[in-house]
Amino acid sequence: MSLLRQHVRGAARSLFPSCLLSHSPSHVRRTVHTKDVAQNASQTRPTHPRVVFSGIQPTGMPHLGNMLGALMNWVKLQREAAPEDKLIFSIVGWHALTLPQDPKELSAARREILAVLLACGIDPKRSIVFHQDENRHHAELAWILNCITPMGKLHRMTTWKSRLAASRNARDDSEVDESLLNVGLFTYPVLQAADILAYKTTHVPVGEDQQQHIELCRDLAVTFNKTFKGGKDDPPVFPLPRHVIPSTSCRVLSLKDPSSKMSKSSPDVNSRILLTDSAEQINKKIRRAVTDSITGISYDSDTRPGIANLVDILAACEDAKPQDVAVRYANRSHAEFKMDVAEAVEGLMSGPRREFERLRRDIAYLDSVSKSGAARAMEITEKTIDEVRKRTGLY
Ligand code: TYM
Repeated sequence: MSLLRQHVRGAARSLFPSCLLSHSPSHVRRTVHTKDVAQNASQTRPTHPRVVFSGIQPTGMPHLGNMLGALMNWVKLQREAAPEDKLIFSIVGWHALTLPQDPKELSAARREILAVLLACGIDPKRSIVFHQDENRHHAELAWILNCITPMGKLHRMTTWKSRLAASRNARDDSEVDESLLNVGLFTYPVLQAADILAYKTTHVPVGEDQQQHIELCRDLAVTFNKTFKGGKDDPPVFPLPRHVIPSTSCRVLSLKDPSSKMSKSSPDVNSRILLTDSAEQINKKIRRAVTDSITGISYDSDTRPGIANLVDILAACEDAKPQDVAVRYANRSHAEFKMDVAEAVEGLMSGPRREFERLRRDIAYLDSVSKSGAARAMEITEKTIDEVRKRTGLY
């Protein structure tokens, strides 16, 4: 019997990882593991209801990074939310347009991502699930926020800087892909801030890669509140949203280059595991994952990034600490270890994958979910937009 099977046998294994890193307003990170989640939730939960908002781009099938870094965390938040908390999850079509998209593929991907969210366990009766591009208030608020966003801040955004660097590295002008340097990409983080602030969001569950965007969103909330104070007794319009991120064990790196994160855009399909990959494909990709020539398993992301990434993945699947996983496998071979990682990933993906295959064909159901989600979303944002219009003089 594999070590993995021995480990999970008899243990009530939750489908989703429950370790969270929560950013306090001072951006101090704190690791919260399974045992103290409930205690922590009661200590940090504000007296007023929480508003949780997050989004995902409809740009292809989600990979293991999206699953561990975002979707499963959303489901966990949904499961643990207090009845009065609002949970809002959006498929951000307007953000997808910042890179060239094939219209037919984008249209199919929008529906597919909705099916994925539902397949992972987002319950449309409990949470609001909708397409960002079906709520015009996001774009309206984004414009207003654009007008209080300093250009310098957007120039410093890493996503923009990396595109700019890519274009500057081109050997001559004919290699510069101007379509990747559009204004939409430049103001992408402002639209993201509008997504969040339109709901007066208090908590944003996203991966570490989104931290800079959340910081900008907080800055814009502060600037708006200061610039448009309203009357003497008027409260600030926007609360300061907190970044809720999964623990580092949920930051999934490329299987082929563990110095970069697992991403949809990497040209090497073997660098990522997709929700739709079969057990055989998962096995093959993990077997071929870049590791090292050191015997045994240990956890050190500086000296053994490839192995550490696999330890992180297994730990996230098992809801365990990576250090404990590494100790358990210390004397095992890479091949045995990889076999168990593949088995754990398949265990995590197989349920949502089956459900996705069933749901993706039920177009009438998917359309009814997104329609009612957009109506519920607009009911909330209508009030924010009215307030924003009054404060800014647009009435
Ligand atoms: P997107 O679509 O790139 O990614 C969706 C979520 O997946 C997380 N993620 C990862 N987590 C761990 N390891 C990885 N390798 C990995 N790759 C992606 C991301 O952190 C994210 O949580 N800008 C956002 C979408 C967005 C949004 C918003 C999010 C638009 N408006 C408002 C929150 C709130 C994005 O591009 O996500």
